[in-house]
Amino acid sequence: MHFFKYKKGELYAEEVPVREIAAKYGTPVYIYSASTLVRHFKAYDEAFDGKHHIICFALKANSNSAVIRLFAKHGAGADVVSGGELFRALKAGIPAKKIVYAGVGKTADEIRFALKSKILMFNVESENELREIDRIAADMKVKASIALRINPDIDPQTHPYISTGLKKHKFGIPIDDALEHYKFAKSLKNIAVVGIHKHIGSQLTKISPFVDALKRILILIDELAKSGIRIDFLDIGGGLGITYLDEHPPQPRDLAGHILPLLEGRDVTVVMEPGRSLVGNAGILVTKTLYLKEGEEKNFVIVDAGMNDLMRPSLYNAYHHIQPVVKTRRDTIIADVVGPICESGDFLAKDREIPKVNQGEYLAVMSAGAYGFSMSSTYNSRPRVAEVMVNGTKFALVRKRETYADLLRGESIPEFIR
Ligand code: LLP
Repeated sequence: MHFFKYKKGELYAEEVPVREIAAKYGTPVYIYSASTLVRHFKAYDEAFDGKHHIICFALKANSNSAVIRLFAKHGAGADVVSGGELFRALKAGIPAKKIVYAGVGKTADEIRFALKSKILMFNVESENELREIDRIAADMKVKASIALRINPDIDPQTHPYISTGLKKHKFGIPIDDALEHYKFAKSLKNIAVVGIHKHIGSQLTKISPFVDALKRILILIDELAKSGIRIDFLDIGGGLGITYLDEHPPQPRDLAGHILPLLEGRDVTVVMEPGRSLVGNAGILVTKTLYLKEGEEKNFVIVDAGMNDLMRPSLYNAYHHIQPVVKTRRDTIIADVVGPICESGDFLAKDREIPKVNQGEYLAVMSAGAYGFSMSSTYNSRPRVAEVMVNGTKFALVRKRETYADLLRGESIPEFIR
């Protein structure tokens, strides 16, 4: 459920006409609905009510400071995967004790930063990473709290690029080797074993992979207990899907309904790391039609947003619904909706039946709040676009459109070629 709805044929972001925002800040522009964000967060929070839990928003899905702050205000933690994300999370007011840090390639500097910040735990992905964290913690005379990311070898049944929990993936520690790794972790002086972590993939539309993976993890937790290793934090990862077209993903309450009974009688804090399901349908990308072009074989709708602004269609062949901001009765055409980037892979939609749009008209690319702006780049030297947040009748710029000068920031021309 989100708050982007048509009223009398005109698309609104909550109580504000999308057209008004586009006219004020220009296009392309990302628009986020604060009420939708809060609603999604509460759906998780309420679903897991009654069990100790921390909802660690996966910043990679959308790392805008205003978005993070809004979640922080409602009690969220953060799942970070880089020093930069840790910095953002802390700056936006997420308490360090609610921050978990995953990723296969944490650098020494990043580990030091996280230890200094006193985060809740590192989600460790390999034995050598464990050694490195122990070494740095010893150096800093602190103890590092860790969970091991366990790869339960479960097929999440999603797109291969966003599936992570199989043996062939680079993530985590194979479940069969887990006990041995935990024993090793426990033997390290500057490591405190506090948790266990799994994340099997993204855009999951079925509950069963979650349940199957969790069951394997619970067996492991019992084995660990026999070896005197106690798990206080059970991090079940993220991954709940959203509706882009016609998917019917489970809701947080469905997830909780299947997971909580399995945890009955267990004294653990449940940590979860949702990204997409919190922000995906809380954001849209508004773009303007620049030109209509009839090719020999195809119609092209050329818009001012490109693959650098929203990479998902090009990278994953992902579907995003595209609709005119102002609806009128008209015929439809089959067209490719493409951006201005000099690559054939630069498209927002392929062979899509859409209303016959006009030049200069605004289009809304739906479900763009997750992995939209956060994956954007300045490829083709296109300044990154503006981001706006709406709350009821109010709206505000939460990130300025970059300027040409921003594009050159940090660059210099060396003496020897001047
Ligand atoms: N936790 C870990 C360890 C992760 O690797 C991820 C996502 C999440 C949590 C959050 O997953 P979510 O709830 O958002 O599914 N760029 C791709 C998605 C990549 C997901 C990477 N990891 C896309 O646009 O579909």
